[in-house]
Amino acid sequence: MSLGIFFGSTTGNTENIAEMLSAEFGNLVSTTANITDIEPEDLLNYDILILGIPTWNVGELQYDWEDFLPQMKGLDLSGKKVAMFGLGDSFGYAENFLDALGLLWDELKEMGSPELVGVWPTQGYTFDESKGMFDENHFLGLGLDEENESDMHEERIKAWTAKVCAELGLSG
Ligand SMILES: Cc1cc2nc3c(=O)[nH]c(=O)nc-3n(C[C@H](O)[C@H](O)[C@H](O)COP(=O)(O)O)c2cc1C
Repeated sequence: MSLGIFFGSTTGNTENIAEMLSAEFGNLVSTTANITDIEPEDLLNYDILILGIPTWNVGELQYDWEDFLPQMKGLDLSGKKVAMFGLGDSFGYAENFLDALGLLWDELKEMGSPELVGVWPTQGYTFDESKGMFDENHFLGLGLDEENESDMHEERIKAWTAKVCAELGLSG
């Protein structure tokens, strides 16, 4: 099974997290790349896609994802496993925390119904509203807050990577 980590990042935070995740997944990772450096079809080369997106512009997709997603239309992601991680500011944007996770998944699930793995408990986060919810108690993927909770990154990344590996039946 090949695993690729792909991200968009305006100020570098999501890129840093992608690198941390890449180190944590270790040998399981075939590629880690910014979406600005790939073509949408390149995603089809991987069985497992780990996709990173920060929320920007108050509840919107990050700019490179805004350009990339329309180009992905028509891709068939059926049979793929998808895990997502999102960056957001739970204090400054408490009403729109991690919204982009939801916007991204809304598009991806229309591309052949890939399987979502790595939903993540909201317990321990403080925010008012998010479009990035899987259900009442879970985000659609790993949520990280560089502005307020960067001290939690390492612990959250380790636990999430272990969860994703367990769901995929991989040993990380
Ligand atoms: C103008 C602006 C708008 C933002 N809007 C949101 C938002 O709506 N929701 C949220 O959770 N975070 C929001 N953020 C926080 C970013 O998601 C956060 O800074 C993230 O770490 C940026 O990641 P990047 O460096 O990979 O681009 C916003 C930040 C800025 C500067």
